Amino acid sequence: MHGGDDALRVAVELGPRSYDIQVVSNPGPGALSGFVQDSLRRGWAGRGCRRALVVTDAHLAPFVQPLTAALAAIDLDVAAITLPAGEASKCLDRAAEIYDRLVHLPADRHTLVVAFGGGVIGDLAGFTAATFARGLPLFMVPTSLLAQVDSSVGGKVGINLPGAKNLVGAFHQPIGVWIDTDSLTTLPEAEYRSGLAEVVKYGMILDPGFFDEIEAHVSQILARDPFHVRRMVARSCELKAQVVTADEFEQTGLRAVLNFGHTIGHAVEATAGYGELRHGEAVAIGMVAECRLAERLGWIGQDVTARLESLLIALGLPVTVQSTDADALIASMARDKKNRGGRIRFVLPRRVGTVELTDVPNESAIRAVLTTRSASP
Ligand code: GLY
Repeated sequence: MHGGDDALRVAVELGPRSYDIQVVSNPGPGALSGFVQDSLRRGWAGRGCRRALVVTDAHLAPFVQPLTAALAAIDLDVAAITLPAGEASKCLDRAAEIYDRLVHLPADRHTLVVAFGGGVIGDLAGFTAATFARGLPLFMVPTSLLAQVDSSVGGKVGINLPGAKNLVGAFHQPIGVWIDTDSLTTLPEAEYRSGLAEVVKYGMILDPGFFDEIEAHVSQILARDPFHVRRMVARSCELKAQVVTADEFEQTGLRAVLNFGHTIGHAVEATAGYGELRHGEAVAIGMVAECRLAERLGWIGQDVTARLESLLIALGLPVTVQSTDADALIASMARDKKNRGGRIRFVLPRRVGTVELTDVPNESAIRAVLTTRSASP
C-alpha cells in the first residue's frame, strides 16, 4: 500500500493484466483524470482509447457528472447508459441493452467501459466489457462498500440466469479501479454494515493484525471516519489482491480462502429468499456458524468464535441462523461449487488470520451448528 494520508494505492500484480487500485477521499481536481490516463497507458487497447461508455444505475445517475467530466477532460468522447437499480439488472436482457448501445456509439476495441455503481453494475458492465468485441478495456468506480472491498477486485464478472446466480461469466481484469470513499457517506447504514462483514472476513482469513485494528476502531469505522475508512478499504483490497495474484483463474484452490463464511452464508441467503438478507449479513451469520464447526473439529477454541461474534455484533451485524429448516440449508450447501465427491467443503479457521479448506465436517456437526443459538444478547 503506497500513498499519503489522503490517497492509498494498491498494486494488483498480474503480469500483463496488472493494474492499480487508487483509494482516495476528497481528491483534488484532475486526480481522477490523471489516474484514468495512467491506467489507459498501460495497454494496447487503452492507448488507442477515444471513447468511453459509463454504465450506471438509476440511484447513482445523479452523481455521475464528476466522472463524465473527468473522462471528457482527457478528450474522451463520453456516453452513459442508466439501468434500473437492483440485482434483477444482472441479466442477459440488460447486457443486450449495453451491447446495443456499444454498437450504436459505435464502439471499437479501444472503447473504455466504465462501471459506476455497486456490485451489480460492476459485474454486469464487466461482463459486457469482457465479451463485446472479445474484450474491451474496463475501468471500475465502485460506490458501495461491498463493491469497493470485494466485487471490484478479482476480475470475475458475470450475470445471473433465472434461478442461477453468476452462472454466465468471465475473468476480465480492469485496467484500473478508482475508489472514492466519500461515496460511502450517503450509503444507507444497513448497506454499509453489510460491507463490513467482508472486511472482517479479510482479518479472519489472512491478517490477525488487521482484525485487531478493526476491533480497536469500531466506533470510528461506524462513524465512517474518512482516515479509518480509507485504511480499512485499502487494506481489504490489498488482502484480496494477494489472493487473486496467487490464483487469478481459481485453479489452485488458493482463492477458496475468500469463501470463509460463504458456504453457510450462501445457503442462509438463498433459503431466506434473495433480497431478504443482505449478502454481508448472511456472510456474518455464516462466519460464526463456520467457526462453531471449526470448534467441533478441535481447530479453534470457543474464544475465537466469541471474539468474532462480539466484533460482528458491535458492527451491527446478525450472527444467528434464523431458519429452522436445516434440511433446506444443507440441500442448498450441497449445491456449493467448492464441493468434491459429494461432500460439502468448508473454509474453516485454524486461528484468527489462518483458514483451511476441508470436507471433514459430517452432516450431524453441520446440523448442530445450524441450530445453535447465540449466547450473546
Ligand atoms: N469480481 C469479484 C472477484 O473476482 O472475486
